[in-house]
Amino acid sequence: MPATTAVLCGLGASLPQQAVSNSRLIADNRLDSDDQWILQRTGIASRHMADARTSTGDLATAAGRAALDSAAELAGTRIHPDIVLLATTTPDHRCPATAPEVAHRLGHTGTPALDLSAACAGFVYALTVARALITAGHCTHPLVIGAETYTTTLIDPHDRDTAILFGDGAGAALLRPGTPTEPGALQAADLGSDGARAAYAQVPAGGSRTPLGAPGTHPGDHHLRMNGRAVYTQAVRRMTSSALTALEKTGWTTHDVEAFISHQANQRIIDAVADRLHIPAARRHGNLRELGNTAAASIPLALADAATRRAAHPGQRTLLTGFGAGLAWGSHTLLFPEARPRTLPPHPHDDKATP
Ligand code: UT7
Repeated sequence: MPATTAVLCGLGASLPQQAVSNSRLIADNRLDSDDQWILQRTGIASRHMADARTSTGDLATAAGRAALDSAAELAGTRIHPDIVLLATTTPDHRCPATAPEVAHRLGHTGTPALDLSAACAGFVYALTVARALITAGHCTHPLVIGAETYTTTLIDPHDRDTAILFGDGAGAALLRPGTPTEPGALQAADLGSDGARAAYAQVPAGGSRTPLGAPGTHPGDHHLRMNGRAVYTQAVRRMTSSALTALEKTGWTTHDVEAFISHQANQRIIDAVADRLHIPAARRHGNLRELGNTAAASIPLALADAATRRAAHPGQRTLLTGFGAGLAWGSHTLLFPEARPRTLPPHPHDDKATP
């Protein structure tokens, strides 16, 4: 008989070694900005940045391995994932997907594996898909990874509208079948999108609508362009209403939320959403100050960070909410997991796929 829900039973993280402060970022890229503006307007003090040799797949493999180690420690035995879902907007190649190679590098060649593209909402989308796969009886142990390298791929280092915001990293969670009252149990989700506002945060060229080098394109059109103000307004509106819908589906009120983990985009956005939901500051967890916006990796990295610091406790009623380009957004409720997160450095790419 299919399980009644999915339980998060392992947590992993991986960050590039290099931490870059606001001042250094400004100096290195000759940005017309200043440290205090960035800190006050975004809440970001530094971010980890991948070097040219470190790919999204390297970070995803390390975070995935760390989540499997974390799950093995909790279960007392190694668990083999039976599907790998990689949420990313910065895959290693335009073709093929990165997830099959991540599965191979984890030692699970043959396991179904796919990338899922929903920008900064990607991890919540992937978690929802993974839970549905478990409850439908299609698989038992999905490995869900959010991994990104925006700074080496999509970001124009000289564009102060985006360069100050983003960082690189990966977070991962292993799921298993279980019951809704266990620590780590996923409860209910709400997902949404608004393609009418796709241009609010978009990479102008490099896709099939406007191939790179097509007439009318400009150098730099492969970089993300963002209308920050418009995205900000939508982020607050969409995350608040999505969170309320997920809470209602769960049968919780905003006052029941003991741990709130939002997409880490801008502290003012996070606080605006949490204020509207009446969630006190002590229940808001995140690591935006140190990591910046890591897109699909931000929620699992914040979840792992809250667990590592023991800022949230197993069984606490937890609300995740994410928002990003698409526009796409989503929220998921769960009981805070018991798993102790593991962290590993990016996995070097020394094992090429068979030619
Ligand atoms: O992951 C989801 C995708 N992205 C987001 O969630 C980002 C959402 N948006 C934001 O976080 C904010 O809109 C930004 C951080 C991007 C910008 O903050 P803002 O408060 O919306 O600033 P603004 O664009 O309204 O500009 C305010 C002032 C302007 O100066 P004046 O006209 O008041 O003199 C800007 O020229 O700040 C100036 N400014 C800057 N100054 C220093 C704008 N960007 C910068 C900068 N450094 N990087």
